[in-house]
Amino acid sequence: MMDLDLLDNLSTGVIFVDKNKEIKYVNKTAKDILNIKEGQSCKNLKMFDICKKCPIDYYNKHSTFPEFDDFNITLSCCSKKVCYSFKPVFENGEFTGIIEEIRDSTKVNQYIEIIKKEKEFSHLILDSVIDAIVVVDNQGKIINYNQNAKNLLCREVDIKGMDLSLLIKKDLKELPSLREDIVIETPAYGKIKVSAVFTRLKSGEGSIFSFYVVPDCMLSQEPASNKSRLITKSSIMTYVLDIAKTVADTSVNVLLEGESGTGKNVLAKYIHNQSSRRDKPFIKINCAAIPDNLLESELFGYVKGAFTGAVKDKPGKVELADGGTLFLDEIGELPTYLQSKLLHLIQDKEFERLGDTKTRKVDVRIIAATNKDLSQLVKEGKFREDLYYRLKVISIKVPALRERKEDIPFLINYFIDLYSKQYNKHIKGVSPEAVRLLLDYDYPGNIRELENIIERAVILAKGKFIEASDLPDEIVYNTKILAQNNLDEEIDEKQKILRVLESVNWNKSKAAKILNIDRVTLWRKLKKYGLV
Ligand SMILES: Nc1ncnc2c1ncn2[C@@H]1O[C@H](COP(=O)(O)OP(=O)(O)OP(=O)(O)O)[C@@H](O)[C@H]1O
Ligand SMILES: [Mg+2]
Repeated sequence: MMDLDLLDNLSTGVIFVDKNKEIKYVNKTAKDILNIKEGQSCKNLKMFDICKKCPIDYYNKHSTFPEFDDFNITLSCCSKKVCYSFKPVFENGEFTGIIEEIRDSTKVNQYIEIIKKEKEFSHLILDSVIDAIVVVDNQGKIINYNQNAKNLLCREVDIKGMDLSLLIKKDLKELPSLREDIVIETPAYGKIKVSAVFTRLKSGEGSIFSFYVVPDCMLSQEPASNKSRLITKSSIMTYVLDIAKTVADTSVNVLLEGESGTGKNVLAKYIHNQSSRRDKPFIKINCAAIPDNLLESELFGYVKGAFTGAVKDKPGKVELADGGTLFLDEIGELPTYLQSKLLHLIQDKEFERLGDTKTRKVDVRIIAATNKDLSQLVKEGKFREDLYYRLKVISIKVPALRERKEDIPFLINYFIDLYSKQYNKHIKGVSPEAVRLLLDYDYPGNIRELENIIERAVILAKGKFIEASDLPDEIVYNTKILAQNNLDEEIDEKQKILRVLESVNWNKSKAAKILNIDRVTLWRKLKKYGLV
């Protein structure tokens, strides 16, 4: 008995329950925690989650013992979490009962919570930096990474456990210990040039590979032949291009829909270049840019004397496009009387020049584009329904730039290259701060807007890098960032105005522009809030 008394000094609770579920022994710690005593039956105690899966019942049924999650056993008698384990006792090969051990694990669980929170926090930090970051162990296997790294390396797949050197097609020994531009080849982007640094962790238990994309990132693509090059790496646009490629070789008409500046012209040219008509003409006509009275003769041509000034026969765009592609941009602007003539062309592949009686045959593939909702124009009776359906045999929606932000770094680099050459500058890239601003912006004017921003920045840049100060105000004082800083409607207008004014050194016309109000309104508000 002396021996068992010793067990009362343990901080672990010890209980012996015999095979009939009678509690034979309880040490002091277990008594304190559970308030049970020897001689009691544990049948109706239901102290633990574990009682639902009673090891004795389990043994009687299956002749083996169940497994438990040690740390998280909840007691029903108090809010304590305990760590629980048990051992079966056999005498002369016969099962006689179980010895149970319980230990208060409230503290351990609190530590686990803290560690979990810290882990979440460090993930948040990792995901907020512009660099792509990958942590590897000493064998070069990935043990942690941020979202940017995932996007640049594999996009969708969890890369934990993978070999970094295989993912970037580079021996880790060749990675620079001081930041340097290198070329890596990733499954998601092919060959890209990155500014990278590979640092050993202080603990010596692995290293961090940190990198971001720099110009020349389109190494794996063909050299730019002209300005109609289509840069994309985003999955949504790759999908669009797949559809475009599939339809390119048929002669079906294609309708390209999408906001202004999304690249409908570029895509139309791409379809033409992918088709067997590529060696024939690609003729473009912008229905919005030509006055209605000239549009007909531009499209269908005319014969001498058709109207005053028609001194000789002239073929129209339709004829010029014979064998090739006719690209009708801004088709929503086509006047109704020309809509019927176009329908006739599409249905019968024939047309008449203005003032002519002779019907001519042509073989053209029509691609039309619009940034309007054509179906709405049909509903309003402004666009012929039959023509609408003829044009949109295949309709492709070109996604807005904000729906494919992964393309932004690549487009930036492409435009830097393009305009550096044009303006004879030697811009190497964009500063991290400017990249962050460029990535945060929503581009209502899409790629055209981004292109204009970069062209302007290339002209303005004083050094080798485009800095935040080379970007226009709407990007630098991005209303979205202001909104993220809780400067939206819900907070006081006065605070918002103050914050904006401070950010532009109290330049009132700049502030008015950012706040999207005119100067007079700003003055009125400043007076109202006693700021002047
Ligand atoms: N994927 C791309 N890669 C490179 N440049 C692009 C890309 N998409 C668009 N651009 C460039 O952006 C500008 C706008 O493109 P585009 O003229 O094709 O847009 P759009 O959709 O036809 O616009 P709108 O509706 O206003 O006519 C052009 O200078 C074009 O070269
Ligand atoms: Mg266009």
